[in-house]
Amino acid sequence: MKKFSFRIYTLLLFFGLSGYLSAQQNIENRIEEVLSKMTLRQKIGQMNQVNARKPDEKLYQQIRNGEVGSILNAEDPVLLNQLQKISVEESKSGIPLIFARDVIHGFKTIFPIPLAQAASFNPKAAETGARIAAVEASENGIRWTFAPMMDISRDPRWGRIAESFGEDTYLSEIMAAAMVKGFQGDDLSNPSSVAACAKHFIGYGAVEGGRDYNISNIPERQLRNIYLPPFEKSVREMGCATVMTSFNSNDGVPPSASKFLLTDVLRGEWKFDGVVVSDWASIGIMVTQGFCENKKDAARKAANAGMEIDMVSACFIDHLEQLVKEGSVSEQTIDHAVRNILRLKYRLGLFENPYTDLESERKIYAPEHLDEAKKAAEESFVLLKNKNNILPLSEQIKTVAIIGPMADAPHDQMGTWCFDGEKEHTQTPLNALKKQFGSKVDFIYEKTLSFSRDKDKSRFAKAIDAAKKSDVVLLFIGEESILSGEAHSLADLNLVGAQSELVAELSKTGKSIVTVVMAGRPLTIGREADLSDAVLYAWHPGTMGGPAIADMLFGKSSPSGKLPVTFPRYVGQIPLYYNHEKIGRPAKKNEVLLNDIPLEAKQSSLGNTSYYLDAGFDVLFDFGYGLSYTTFEYSNLTLSKDNLSKNDVLQVSVALRNTGNREGCEVVQLYTADIAASITPLVKELKDFKRITLKPGEQQIVTFDLPIQKLAFWNIDMEKVVEPGKFDVMVGGNSVDLLKKRFTVN
Ligand code: GLC
Repeated sequence: MKKFSFRIYTLLLFFGLSGYLSAQQNIENRIEEVLSKMTLRQKIGQMNQVNARKPDEKLYQQIRNGEVGSILNAEDPVLLNQLQKISVEESKSGIPLIFARDVIHGFKTIFPIPLAQAASFNPKAAETGARIAAVEASENGIRWTFAPMMDISRDPRWGRIAESFGEDTYLSEIMAAAMVKGFQGDDLSNPSSVAACAKHFIGYGAVEGGRDYNISNIPERQLRNIYLPPFEKSVREMGCATVMTSFNSNDGVPPSASKFLLTDVLRGEWKFDGVVVSDWASIGIMVTQGFCENKKDAARKAANAGMEIDMVSACFIDHLEQLVKEGSVSEQTIDHAVRNILRLKYRLGLFENPYTDLESERKIYAPEHLDEAKKAAEESFVLLKNKNNILPLSEQIKTVAIIGPMADAPHDQMGTWCFDGEKEHTQTPLNALKKQFGSKVDFIYEKTLSFSRDKDKSRFAKAIDAAKKSDVVLLFIGEESILSGEAHSLADLNLVGAQSELVAELSKTGKSIVTVVMAGRPLTIGREADLSDAVLYAWHPGTMGGPAIADMLFGKSSPSGKLPVTFPRYVGQIPLYYNHEKIGRPAKKNEVLLNDIPLEAKQSSLGNTSYYLDAGFDVLFDFGYGLSYTTFEYSNLTLSKDNLSKNDVLQVSVALRNTGNREGCEVVQLYTADIAASITPLVKELKDFKRITLKPGEQQIVTFDLPIQKLAFWNIDMEKVVEPGKFDVMVGGNSVDLLKKRFTVN
């Protein structure tokens, strides 16, 4: 019987694979056929992406002339079908358009911002959210999203940290891959699939000073070890359909014209056969960057580097034809770009099915979408403090003061980058608390500050009065959504407006304060955390943030989120991230601080280590940190062996026990550290994680398989290798409190 089924399996595999290959070959043949009939102008038209916020006769004529290949920011399905009809039925080449949009963390049903989704350490949730976003966006004719953004972000002054998956390479790889899978689904030609976009290629999260659009200076080795892996995984393993270049210049070269990045790495090393798109006018901006003399020069440099679609700068459509005629850009270069663009359109099924079905069942805001958005929000919350286990709130509580500008902020709760979110659909904490618990609890609501930047303290007295009448204060503070995101860098991460004073005044009442922070980034909330009995970091949790917060505060759900990014005590400590390179004099606990220094002290090296006299070296909250409503104990870390070869798999196991009195979910984290290497190694780096749910008293042996190849890095010779030597493996519930064992790779 076995032989028979094996034969059947082999035949099925053969026919399946040959079917796939012939479909691919069929697409390639059709591409060549279409390409052979195109004029140079029509080819360049495919490389031109225009913004259709206000479509007009000029746009219609451009489409008729075959001078537009894709359109962004049109999102009305009727309009999209009208534009598509012009392209398919009135233009000479009849090639369908692709309609693109920034669907970053939801289309109509808004999910938590990506930084919050990273805090869930739940890639399946990120995949589900992206799938739902794709279903809702594609109903409107959107078949290409400019997401996931996978920039490694170590600087919370940079407003776009909100869109990222934080500071860790491995977590970003896993979350980005999950989102690509969710957006693209199993079959890109399915009308509910949208092409994903790995952005921003590369190094944008490392802009100097956290100032958006600034320069970065990341050497190639660090690019390859820290910044490129999420893009490589998304492209090579997940088949991400497109890649977007970034606004920064890196080491003096804008990625939009980097042959090293766009041709050598992306095409040469990674065999990428998708499409490279610029960021918004990032080709034209190279003139301002002084990298190009004029837009014609920018078109030349970008095209010759491997750029294929020009987002809205019109450099390609205005200059490429002349550049080809004068021999500065070859027609082969143009053909290569257009082949990739046509391939994307074939893979999306647009040649067979260019129009959006306006009759199909609408899934926007479907109940199951809202349920998933609520679940994603719950899993993204990070409990940072819970003194005397004040949370979850006790059943005895009868009067609760709800105070602060973020308790009922339906627009801001959605966070940055949600063009199509509608605040009317947002369920806020105020509404949810009243709806879900209003029958058992008296709520006294005092917004006090109209918005996060509000400095008007005239309503403080009423807030204090409400607090005095309550058993507990629920304080909702943070930042409006517009204070994070693109072009919104901050030099100061303290709470804006009079929020900090409000916390201080409320703390004087002696009432217990549960502080819920809604923000798009880490904030320096050390003072406010000290004055609060509990701190729940809810990020910008999206449409269903309110019910998620309400259930969590009253114990219908439990926090499981962990920080995807380090929280600094002071903005002056930045950049501050856990997986930094080893240094010669690492800070220790016993450092000398500013006020310890005697008067007229003679020149000395003080603590002899790397820290700040006025801030020590401690972070506010560590990467990977987050509390639960229960407690967990780790014990008995064991390795399958402690001497391994480079192709071995090390089995790492640890006993995890729920030592509290409530069921809880723990994100068990596995880190490794190279003791000595050909370059200064990182002090530790996340290599795996698992979400484990345990009942009170329950113990589970959690096992990880760690392929030794996972320890490979780009070394002193710029080769990606596993170097022999000693390593530590560490397991725990955050990046600091870890059990540790050593092993050797031979
Ligand atoms: C913006 C962003 C990019 C976005 C694009 C289109 O400037 O940098 O992430 O996808 O333009 O909106």
